[in-house]
Amino acid sequence: MTEQTPVTEAKAVKVPALPDAQTVTEVQHYTDRLFRFRCTRPASLRFRSGEFVMIGLMGDPHPETGKQKPLLRAYSIASPSWDEEMEFYSIKVEDGPLTSKLQHIKPGDEVILRPKPVGTLVHDALIPGKRIWFFATGTGFAPFASLLREPQTYEDYDEVIITHTCRTVGELTYGRELIEALKNDELLNEVIGEGFWKKIKYYPTTTREESAKMGRITDLINSGEAYADLGVAPLNPESDRAMICGNLAFNLELKDMLEKAGLEEGANSKPAQYVVEKAFLD
Ligand code: A2P
Repeated sequence: MTEQTPVTEAKAVKVPALPDAQTVTEVQHYTDRLFRFRCTRPASLRFRSGEFVMIGLMGDPHPETGKQKPLLRAYSIASPSWDEEMEFYSIKVEDGPLTSKLQHIKPGDEVILRPKPVGTLVHDALIPGKRIWFFATGTGFAPFASLLREPQTYEDYDEVIITHTCRTVGELTYGRELIEALKNDELLNEVIGEGFWKKIKYYPTTTREESAKMGRITDLINSGEAYADLGVAPLNPESDRAMICGNLAFNLELKDMLEKAGLEEGANSKPAQYVVEKAFLD
């Protein structure tokens, strides 16, 4: 009998090629301007739904030294705090330093994820209320994709109104699919109760392509059309809380409207009636 050499299986441990590397698990493209991806979550990373982190890739090698530096941008985490993985929703800009490369990632690739979450679009920055408004344009939907999947949103509020203004119908797809999927969300149905999703009022609008509801949300609110369509009372500082996330002009205009309606801006250190954050732009 010959003695057999014990065979030790090579452990499938992947050595990260990047600092703070996470592995991409899923990529979905919506339009030539938008995509989402999921990646592994660092075991030690805790965050509050609505926060953002810095993510990115290694930049091109320096022409003389050959050294590479990480190319990072702030991205809202689109997945909720309880999710095992991380999700991000991104714009693609042809000559954008990061997104021109990021848009080509595939499952198995690595991205850099700095595990230091921060942000103001969190429940802790708001005082209690009855109704919460999430106002988004474009990729500004991302933090709300997290908050809409967060049980606390439905524990804290009787009504959740999410408005999303985009240029085209295709740009609404990520948000629309996410909201439809909430009906079958096992965790939320179990924790909050079946039919929790009936608390949500979804108000998608487009500005540059024909759809069921056209116009900027700011104009639709100012004219009273949005209230009439939704069948809700106008903004009121007693009962309403709001979070804003979109392009800069939109944020400023809506902030002004909320202030005029009597709502005050809150922060982690001083909770109040609304909070605002700029959506990522490459
Ligand atoms: P519009 O097409 O009229 O500019 P973007 O893709 O440029 O970030 O814009 C996303 C959406 O936000 C677009 O539908 C755009 O409308 C809308 N938007 C831009 N600025 C404002 C603003 N000041 N108030 C309301 N909506 C805005």
